[in-house]
This record gives sequence, structure tokens and C-alpha cells, in this order.
Amino acid sequence: TNSLPVYSQEEVTEHCAIEKGIWVTYKGSVYDVTDFVAIHPGGEKILLAAGKALEPFWALYAVHEQEHVLEILSQYKVGVL
Ligand code: HEM
Repeated sequence: TNSLPVYSQEEVTEHCAIEKGIWVTYKGSVYDVTDFVAIHPGGEKILLAAGKALEPFWALYAVHEQEHVLEILSQYKVGVL
């Protein structure tokens, strides 16, 4: 069973700044990537997706289409939409 909390899109959207936390969604899951922002290999570009879905950005930056990238993302999962 999945005991992670369910968040609304509105709650995700609110987490769009370092002081509030940086959340993103991907395939129906919610990730708090606040602690990853400073170590992102693509630098501050990650902030473009703050409070939003990763899909449109990752469609443009295909470097993310790798298993090890999804493994990193999975470590930050905090809930589902
Ligand atoms: C590179 C993770 C969001 C732009 C990478 C790499 C990882 C990563 C692990 C290195 C991949 C490799 O070289 O093997 C993530 C995660 C994200 C995220 C976990 C969200 C939580 C974004 C967004 C953008 C972006 C939203 C653009 C709007 C880039 C770019 C690179 C990159 C341009 C290439 C950097 C370089 O090699 O010079 N990202 N990324 N990333 N990312 Fe992201």
C-alpha cells in the first residue's frame, strides 16, 4: 500500500521558492527537490520547473532520459497528486 500523502496541484504550485521549498511533479508523483537544487548538474534551470510538472522541461532536455536520473528523483518523493 502507498502511505504517502495525496497533495493537490495547488499545494504543489505553492512550493515554488527556496524559502517555501521546491516541489515538482512527475507522472503523478510529488517530489520535494529543495535539497537537490544546489547540486543539480544543470544548475538553476531546475527552478523553471518549481511548483510544476517536469514533463515539458524534460521533453526539451533529453539528458534526463536515463535510469540514474529517475533514481535520483525517486529519493525525493514526498507524495502523490
Ligand atoms: C542535467 C537531474 C530538472 C536542465 C541533469 C542531470 C541530472 C539532472 C541527474 C545530469 C544527467 C547526466 O549528465 O547524466 C534533474 C532533476 C530535476 C531536473 C532530478 C528535477 C527535479 C531540470 C529542469 C531543467 C534541467 C527543469 C531545465 C529547465 C538540465 C540540463 C542538464 C541537466 C540543461 C545538462 C547539464 C550539463 O550536462 O551541462 N539534471 N534535473 N533539469 N539538467 Fe536537470
